[in-house]
Amino acid sequence: MRSLRVRSDRPSNPQAASALALAVPPALALAILALMTPPPVIAQQSAVNGEAREVEVTFSKDVAPILQASCQICHRPGSVGPMSLLTYHEVRRYASRARDLVSKRLMPPYHLDTGVGIQDVKGDWRLSDDEIETVVAWVDAGAPEGDPADLPTPIDWPNEQKWQLEDVLGPPDHVIKSKPFDVPAEGGDTWWRPRVPTGLNEDRMVMAFETRPSFPAGRQIVHHAIPRLLRLNEDGEYRRIQSLSEYAMGKIGEIVPRDAGRLLKANDMIEWDAHYYPMGYDVTGDQLELGIWFHEDGYEPEFDQDLRLYPLRGDIALRPGGTAMTQGFHRWDHPVRLDSYQPHGHVHLHAMSVQAVYPDGDVELISMVTDFDARWHHSYIYEDDVAPLLPTGTVVVLTGWYDNTAENELTPDPEIWYARGARTMDEMSHAWMAITHLTEEGYQRLVEERERKHATDGDDGNRN
Ligand code: HEC
Repeated sequence: MRSLRVRSDRPSNPQAASALALAVPPALALAILALMTPPPVIAQQSAVNGEAREVEVTFSKDVAPILQASCQICHRPGSVGPMSLLTYHEVRRYASRARDLVSKRLMPPYHLDTGVGIQDVKGDWRLSDDEIETVVAWVDAGAPEGDPADLPTPIDWPNEQKWQLEDVLGPPDHVIKSKPFDVPAEGGDTWWRPRVPTGLNEDRMVMAFETRPSFPAGRQIVHHAIPRLLRLNEDGEYRRIQSLSEYAMGKIGEIVPRDAGRLLKANDMIEWDAHYYPMGYDVTGDQLELGIWFHEDGYEPEFDQDLRLYPLRGDIALRPGGTAMTQGFHRWDHPVRLDSYQPHGHVHLHAMSVQAVYPDGDVELISMVTDFDARWHHSYIYEDDVAPLLPTGTVVVLTGWYDNTAENELTPDPEIWYARGARTMDEMSHAWMAITHLTEEGYQRLVEERERKHATDGDDGNRN
């Protein structure tokens, strides 16, 4: 019984071609992608009294609202972006670069492929095809300003110390800080892995997590940070049992689905794993924070959820100018729900897919990330209604493609060999997946609930 129908409900765009990457080496897929970039739109058409008439696309009227909605969170003073994109004059200077990155869907930096796999994800930053066409048409028309009277009201950016989940959940119930760390003005990347107690004196079931850097400095010097959960084992040693929530630039927190929970025990510890890089000024005593929202006291979720790392095995031997592919196969002895997917690799990982091979042999592509970029860490969290329900015996297949050709701008040197390793320039390969562990009855019920819902909504299976 299939509980997931992966449907392409976004209009086509250059990355629809990413399905090709399943069949061809990444370098070739890239070349094909380049050929498939759609032609620029010259101007928008608007129907007035049934007649199409050319309308000038202007910054004030058409482009500024897009920048407000999708760019300024990072591109404003004090945020992570290298420049501000608030005013016409600021944006004008970057117009052609913005056209390039936006049309390739590299900005906003959110690399889940459109057109293949599940498209309903929480906190989706992707622009619509119309928005991309507007930016392209505007730049191609010479980036006109238009009438400043058309500008949308500037956004009053919220107090920076607000948690992103605060709007939905209110302030966190509990906050765990990392130990203070000094980051010098100059130098290479550094890692900070302090252990801190959770500060809890009773077991609590968690409903949501959010990790955030300090403000304003942390926004610029923290590359990414992961609070890992450590628990005492029988030998009295603390062992990592899972990660809680990874912070990476721009990312939102993680809400655990309502029927699941993650347990924090009273004497658990948190081990921070923070990657800092110097930004030209001294920062003393920087601290990261993990905000936690609890389920109400006594709440017993039906299922456990955990977030773990699932490896891809096999050699990654990248000869000069070469490519490689590795896979990971994972299976559980009970049904599961796949709640989120986050590919991880370094500078050579070009693409990674996750597929389900069902017990009846059917294969389904769940998600595909073609333009993986190691500078961004995204967890694609599926909407509750579409998170794949996988019956016992389903094999989850992760496939990664690596690219050491000159076309990969991120490879330090396409003339030399690379292999697996821990340094940034070596390769690594795994995916993080949040998995809810179901019972057979729970699985049956969820499948039926979903089918009923989709029948009522007259849908073919993937949306509310
Ligand atoms: C989550 C944060 C974030 C969002 C959202 C975002 N950017 Fe960026 N942008 C960055 C960062 C960080 C860089 C520099 C590093 C990189 O390229 O990844 C960057 C780089 C760029 C550059 C290249 C600058 C240069 O020096 O060449 C352009 C152009 C750009 N962004 C435009 C946009 C536009 C247009 C949008 C919205 C449609 C957008 N960005 C959304 C963070 C963001």
